[in-house]
Amino acid sequence: MEIINSILQTPQAVFRRKPLVWALLAAVGTIWTGKTLASLGSFAWLHFVHRSSLERYKSKTPWALVTGSSDGIGKAFAHELCSRGFNVVLHGRNEKKLENVRAELLKEHPTRKVRIFLFDVAVSAGDHARLDAAVDQLEDIDLKVLINNVGGGAKRLWIPLQDYSGDDTRLFLDMNCRFQAELTQRLLPRLIKNGPSLIMNIGSFVSELPAPYISVFGGAKAFGKAWSRSLHFEMLTEGHDVEVLQVQVGMVSTPNEPRPENIFVPNARRMAQSALDKVGCGRSVVFGYWPHQLHCSLLVDLPSVVRDRLLMRIVKGLKEQEERDLKTE
Ligand SMILES: NC(=O)c1ccc[n+]([C@@H]2O[C@H](COP(=O)([O-])OP(=O)(O)OC[C@H]3O[C@@H](n4cnc5c(N)ncnc54)[C@H](OP(=O)(O)O)[C@@H]3O)[C@@H](O)[C@H]2O)c1
Repeated sequence: MEIINSILQTPQAVFRRKPLVWALLAAVGTIWTGKTLASLGSFAWLHFVHRSSLERYKSKTPWALVTGSSDGIGKAFAHELCSRGFNVVLHGRNEKKLENVRAELLKEHPTRKVRIFLFDVAVSAGDHARLDAAVDQLEDIDLKVLINNVGGGAKRLWIPLQDYSGDDTRLFLDMNCRFQAELTQRLLPRLIKNGPSLIMNIGSFVSELPAPYISVFGGAKAFGKAWSRSLHFEMLTEGHDVEVLQVQVGMVSTPNEPRPENIFVPNARRMAQSALDKVGCGRSVVFGYWPHQLHCSLLVDLPSVVRDRLLMRIVKGLKEQEERDLKTE
């Protein structure tokens, strides 16, 4: 009893002697608790309370263009948009693959219309005449949604900078920055005219983490985030009814990267559903899938000395694994 009394009395005694120190500690504690509660509340609201306002973008014959939709997350977006009442323009570089996806979509959703937009980003990015001609073919549709999903680049993800070839750098920049900026710039007047409309840009959590071996890819994805955020505020400042939303994505299991699925690694369809559910949330950048946000903040919020060492070790392991996988292919 005596021990308990002395423990309880110690802070009171210190408080009497150093009231300023205690007032400061109390203020820091209150601010920290307030901030933590606010970010938990914002997380819970976004992922479990908010309802998508995608319906707002539906007209009599609404169309959505999804870049990189012959496979992976883009193909899943196309399926999901068709099932939510949109006609879809599939973009990609492989006509046969795109035709197969088109047939799949029409079989599942016979009342929808599906078009193909063929443009090889690796070969033709920067070819303004070719892009203008491809975009002109979409002149007659009521375009309401643009999903800038195409991304990635070189065959390897983890590349030391000195091992990049000139083409790897160009490819990462064309696939993750240039094409989406140039395509959106051309479609923007139409999206403004057809407003309300939506531009969703697919990013990656590599732009959130200070990891080695992704200097160009991580930088390119960070461009997407900054570009998206700026465009979001540009539309608001100009009074245009165009929602611009950057969706950050963590690991997803796709045919190109068939990782085992678990709560942190959803399949592409689950990822697309969850991303579309964030439409209308009023923010410029969000995580599309709550376990990805949790995963990323667990790492980002660690003290930097611990986080940086941990990330360097994890990524080195991933790079070595990737090299082994490529050798056995
Ligand atoms: N998967 C993940 O774990 C993950 C994680 C974070 C972020 N992301 C982001 O999510 C987006 C989609 O990723 P994903 O994994 O679904 O990619 P994916 O499976 O590799 O599919 C990419 C799509 O882009 C197309 N494409 C590739 N190169 C092209 C080119 N040169 N020109 C035109 N189209 C081309 C592909 O066509 P083909 O069918 O012809 O190859 C395919 O339709 C990307 O922006 C990626 O950075 C993915």
